[in-house]
Amino acid sequence: MKIGVLCSGGDAPGMNPCIRAIVRAAGERGDEVVGIRHGYQGLIDGEFWQGDNIPKEISIRAVSGLTSKGGTILNSSRSTDFMTAEGQAKAIANLEKHKIDALIPIGGNGTLTGALSLTKLWNGQVIGIPGTIDNDLLGTDYTIGFMTAMQTAVEAIDKLRDTAGSHDMMFIVEVMGRHCGDLALQTAIAGGCEIVAVPEIPTSVDQIIASLNHFKKLGKRSMIMIVAEGDDLGGAVEMLNALKNAGSPYEMRVVVLGHVQRGGSPVPSDRILATKLGCFAVDALHQGETGKMAGEIAGKMVLTPFEDVIVDHRQVTPEMIELLQIVAS
Ligand code: F6P
Repeated sequence: MKIGVLCSGGDAPGMNPCIRAIVRAAGERGDEVVGIRHGYQGLIDGEFWQGDNIPKEISIRAVSGLTSKGGTILNSSRSTDFMTAEGQAKAIANLEKHKIDALIPIGGNGTLTGALSLTKLWNGQVIGIPGTIDNDLLGTDYTIGFMTAMQTAVEAIDKLRDTAGSHDMMFIVEVMGRHCGDLALQTAIAGGCEIVAVPEIPTSVDQIIASLNHFKKLGKRSMIMIVAEGDDLGGAVEMLNALKNAGSPYEMRVVVLGHVQRGGSPVPSDRILATKLGCFAVDALHQGETGKMAGEIAGKMVLTPFEDVIVDHRQVTPEMIELLQIVAS
């Protein structure tokens, strides 16, 4: 079998160990793996792992040392061309030209939406792998990259807490997450933060001010609030302005963590998840599966049809919000 692999959308720490796992699992079975650079755009432009001294097929040895590498050796992109019928036709022509039998796209919601389009138009098999720091996908408990992004955010918060404590002030820290507040909420719990604002729950400035006044009365002199970038107020800067105007009892500063969260060496749990999913995806192709995303739910490897994955975003649970509220008081 000739398997194409690509990374699309925002990069996530763990994509590289996933590529390594795919290449090694495929090698075990005598398959060839062809890397496609720059995601779906590379599929359209014919970037089939060629370049200076790089063989067309990714060899077993070419992926050595990838477990600890952040980013993706295949590069990634958000392709608007692939959203058009013309772009998709070009991509399919290239897949046929290179005699690819199956494709494994690694990425988030947009990547899997692209994978679904491809499944409908192309005769080859497609098995997707969830790779995004947002952890916003249905069909898996965790996405590749989430744990590393949370580790990065928590390390930053631990440092900010020192300064918040020294100066009796409040930090409003913005983390990534356009549609899902899981990164914000789990970071807030792990970082011992007091308040969180997530896209799933409408933000009430009055309610936050009431909580801040309550914390002040309890004797808390410093504070850390986490805001997901997709919060309805618009992010941390907007939050600071709104709280200032509404009479926040704390002096406040904003820190936007941004793309820092997407980089860095993947933590062990991301490396392990990436390895499991990569091997499972190759296995699924050999079982004749297609049109599905590989995931892990409650310790079991599962396949979920693309349609059921992209229909919605994962939502934060009320239980986790309550957990934060209990320990923050
Ligand atoms: O999808 C991953 C993600 O990091 C989101 O959390 C964020 O909203 C987005 O990508 C940022 O995308 P870009 O790098 O294209 O600005």
